Amino acid sequence: MSPESYDSEQQFRLIVEAAPNGMLLIDKGGTIVMVNASALRQFGYERKELLGRSVEMLVPGPFRSDHQQYRAEFIKAPQARAMGGLRELFGLRKDGSEFAVEIGLTPIQMTKGMGVVASIVDISARKRLEVQLRRAERLAELGTLASGMAHEIGTPMNVILGRAEYLLQRAADEGMKKGLATIITQVERITKVMNQLLAFARRRTPERRAVDFGEIVDDSLEMFQERIAQSRITVEKTIESVLPPVRADRDQLIQVVINLVMNSIHAMPEGGLLRLSLDRENSHVRLGVSDTGHGMPEEIRSKVFEPFFTTKDFGKGTGLGLTVVKGIIEEHGGIIAVESAVDKGTTFWVRLPIDEAQAASVKCET
Ligand SMILES: Nc1ncnc2c1ncn2[C@@H]1O[C@H](COP(=O)(O)OP(=O)(O)OP(=O)(O)O)[C@@H](O)[C@H]1O
Ligand SMILES: [Mg+2]
Repeated sequence: MSPESYDSEQQFRLIVEAAPNGMLLIDKGGTIVMVNASALRQFGYERKELLGRSVEMLVPGPFRSDHQQYRAEFIKAPQARAMGGLRELFGLRKDGSEFAVEIGLTPIQMTKGMGVVASIVDISARKRLEVQLRRAERLAELGTLASGMAHEIGTPMNVILGRAEYLLQRAADEGMKKGLATIITQVERITKVMNQLLAFARRRTPERRAVDFGEIVDDSLEMFQERIAQSRITVEKTIESVLPPVRADRDQLIQVVINLVMNSIHAMPEGGLLRLSLDRENSHVRLGVSDTGHGMPEEIRSKVFEPFFTTKDFGKGTGLGLTVVKGIIEEHGGIIAVESAVDKGTTFWVRLPIDEAQAASVKCET
């Protein structure tokens, strides 16, 4: 072998080893005879764990027997092509996890017969983006649809409401008054559903800034003062004294607190204790909204975040309150959880990431 040819072979090996795609060379019996660094990274193995083993160990269980068959067919009619046709393909890592892959197959003549080079691209990141994009598109469509509906339905509803109120003022007959009052409440209900749906669909990109969650709790509670004063509900508020700010949209957080407090008030028609707490939990600020109301059995608790799920009387609740709340919290990178016991009460926990940048600068200043 001349020094040049040795060099070029060495160089060729280096290129294969450094290739960004995972590469495997498999002989006609399905044994792995070569594997490059990218493939080792993708599947999480050491080279010696793969060489000499069957390629099927990289295929998730349910696809394994099909894979054997496809491999046999490929060797019979070898032709460079993408693997799997239109099916989605998955690779199996050493730790048992699976990842979406795209695989190109090329037959090559080896000394011991026909072999196959498989070039593997990990497409899991791309798949995730595609899902997010589809979701964003769906939401945008829903937003457009909801705005259109809000206009088309909202305008005649306002006319109906106006006329019904006008007639109610003039009506002398009790039956007539009652009928008109029903029209008014039902129209108001439609308007409420429309508004909630709009809030849900139109979730504009929130305006993020450093906000004091404590202030938001205070401001939101203030809106309920009147209602709480008239009920037999006691409010207890515990806010940790030095809390870092959260990065959030103020208006949206107010909407969150209002919805949670409103639900708690509804759950305690006979009165009770409404507790709001705010404290720091590692890298999060945690809000707790707790009531001593009727609580929920498991089959209700598991459904509360579903759109239009409500146990309230016809016309009383839209079932969108908590859907909106969850949407807002998740958009902020936070989480919401609920604990409940029948006849004892319910607690909603909201965790929002603290604004690291602001928290750090506050530390520097002091
Ligand atoms: N604090 C709570 N205690 C008991 N049940 C609750 C509580 N909060 C929510 N729920 C249950 O979850 C359901 C859904 O709540 P959600 O806020 O989404 O809608 P809603 O309150 O019924 O309607 P809306 O918020 O539009 O007025 C409620 O109907 C109720 O059954
Ligand atoms: Mg509600």
